[in-house]
Amino acid sequence: MKVSTLVIAAAATLANAALAPIEIKGNAFYQKGNDTRFYIRGVDYQPGGSSELADPIADAKGCKRDVEYFKELGVNTIRVYSVDSSADHDECMKALDDAGIYLLLDVNTPHQSLNRADPDPSYNAAYLQNVFAIIDKFKDYDNTFGFFAANEVINSVDGANTTEAAPYVKAVVRDMKAYIKAQAKRKIPVGYSAADVQTSRFQQMQYFNCGDEDERIDMFGMNDYSWCGDSSFEKSGYKANVDQYTGYSIPMFFSEFGCNKGTQNGRPFTEIEALYSDKMSSVYSGGLVYEYSQEDSNYGLVELNGDSVKKLKDFDTLKKQFAKVQDPSGDGGASTSSNSTGSPCPSYDEKTWMVKEDDKVPPMPSEAMDYIKHGAGKGLGTAAPDTQAGATSFPPAGSGTANPDSLPSGSGSSSDSSSSGSSSGSSSSSGAAGAVKVPQVFSSTAIIPSVMLAAAFVFGVNTVF
Ligand SMILES: *[C@@H]1O[C@H](CO)[C@@H](O)[C@H](O)[C@H]1NC(C)=O
Ligand SMILES: *[C@@H]1O[C@H](CO)[C@@H](O)[C@H](O)[C@H]1NC(C)=O
Ligand SMILES: *[C@@H]1O[C@H](CO)[C@@H](O)[C@H](O)[C@H]1NC(C)=O
Repeated sequence: MKVSTLVIAAAATLANAALAPIEIKGNAFYQKGNDTRFYIRGVDYQPGGSSELADPIADAKGCKRDVEYFKELGVNTIRVYSVDSSADHDECMKALDDAGIYLLLDVNTPHQSLNRADPDPSYNAAYLQNVFAIIDKFKDYDNTFGFFAANEVINSVDGANTTEAAPYVKAVVRDMKAYIKAQAKRKIPVGYSAADVQTSRFQQMQYFNCGDEDERIDMFGMNDYSWCGDSSFEKSGYKANVDQYTGYSIPMFFSEFGCNKGTQNGRPFTEIEALYSDKMSSVYSGGLVYEYSQEDSNYGLVELNGDSVKKLKDFDTLKKQFAKVQDPSGDGGASTSSNSTGSPCPSYDEKTWMVKEDDKVPPMPSEAMDYIKHGAGKGLGTAAPDTQAGATSFPPAGSGTANPDSLPSGSGSSSDSSSSGSSSGSSSSSGAAGAVKVPQVFSSTAIIPSVMLAAAFVFGVNTVF
C-alpha cells in the first residue's frame, strides 16, 4: 500500500511538471482544467537587442542561467521577439516549463517581416513559410502561451499613414490561425502587439477584433509606457483606458510596460499595484515588463556580461512589487461569455484610421496553401531569404497532411499540381543572411520613445521612421 501511494504521488508530480496550456474564455486567460484566472506576470526577453536575428532561447546555457532570475523575480511568462526557425529549443522550453514559465512568441525576424512602408510585396508565401516554420517549432510545447502575428507595425504618432498596413497584419493573423488549425494539436492563441500610440489604439483594438472570426485576433497586447515614476491610476491614463476599453470581448494585457522617463534613481514599478487590482482586472490580464537585460535604451533589470548576470536596482524593486501584489480574488470581473460578433469595425478617418470598412483583407498567396495542407517543411533560420521586398521562390512544403476539415475555404484556388516544391533549393542562393543590412533605428527623430522603436525594429521594417 505504501508503495502504491508513492507511485501515485510520483506520477502526480510528473504530471504537474508540465504546465497546462493556456486557454481563453471570454476576455480572460485560464490554465486548462483550472477555473482560476491566469494573469500574466512577465518580462520581455531580448538580450542583445533586436537589430539582427538573435534567438535567446536557442541558447540553452544562457536560457538556463536566466531562468533562475526569472524564478527569483516571480514571473510566469516571458516574451521573445524573434527566433531562428531552424534551431532547437527543447532544452530551454523544458527549463522554462519546469520553472512554471510560459512563452509568448513573436513570429517575425528582421528579414522576414511585413514592411509597413510597402506592405504588399512583403506579404508573400516565402515570408509565411518562415512564420509557419516558427509555429511548427513551438506548437507542441504546452508552455507556448501564444504567438504575436506582429509588433507595432502601425506606429504613426501623427497622421495615419501606417494604419494602411493593418489589413496585411490581419491577413497574417488569419493565415496563422488557419495553419494552427490544420497543423497543430491544440488551439494556440494568436495576437497582435500594438505600439503606444494614442491616435489609433482604439481603432486597432476594434479592427483586429472585428469581422470574420477566422481573421480576428484572440488576444490584444499593448505596449504601454504611460505610467512613469510614481504616477497614479488616474494620472497615468490607465483609468481613462479602462473606461474606454470596458466590454472589449477578448483578453488584453500589456505586452510591454515600465516607463523609465524621469526615473534616474530607478523605476518604482508602482503600476504593478494598479495593474493587478480589481480596478483594472475586468479589462486587463497583467503584463510584461520591458525588459530583462540592460541594452542601449536603458530598460534593463539585469546586466549581462558573458556568463555573468548582475542584478540592477530595478530587479529588486520589481521583485518586491510582484511579491507584494496578489492577483485579484475571484474572477476579477472577467467576462466568461464568448462574444461571437466581436467589435464593430472602425470607420475611416483621414487623420487617424485610413482603412475603409469595405477594404478587403488581402487573400493568402496561393503558394502558401501547400504549407497549410502539408506543413511548412524545413525551417530555414538565418538562411531564409529576405522576404521584405517580395519573393520569387518559395521553400518546399512539408509532407504531412492537414487535420481533416481544417482547410480554409475560398483560398488557394490555384490547382493542387502547381506545387511550391518546384522552387526547391532556391532559397539558399537567394537569401544570404546579412546581405541586406537593416539600418539602425536609434538615430530616429520620431517622438515615440526609443524603446518602441527598438521593439518595432524586430520587424525589420525598413527605415520608415
Ligand atoms: C490554478 O491557477 C491558479 C492561477 O494561475 C494557480 O495559482 C493554481 O496553482 C492553479 N491550480 C492548479 C491545481 O494548477
Ligand atoms: C508616414 O508619415 C511620416 C511623417 O510624414 C513619415 O515620416 C513616414 O515615413 C510615413 N510612413 C509611411 C509608412 O509612409
Ligand atoms: C461584443 O464585444 C464588443 C466589444 O469587443 C462589444 O462592443 C459588443 O457589444 C459585444 N456584444 C455582445 C453581444 O456582448
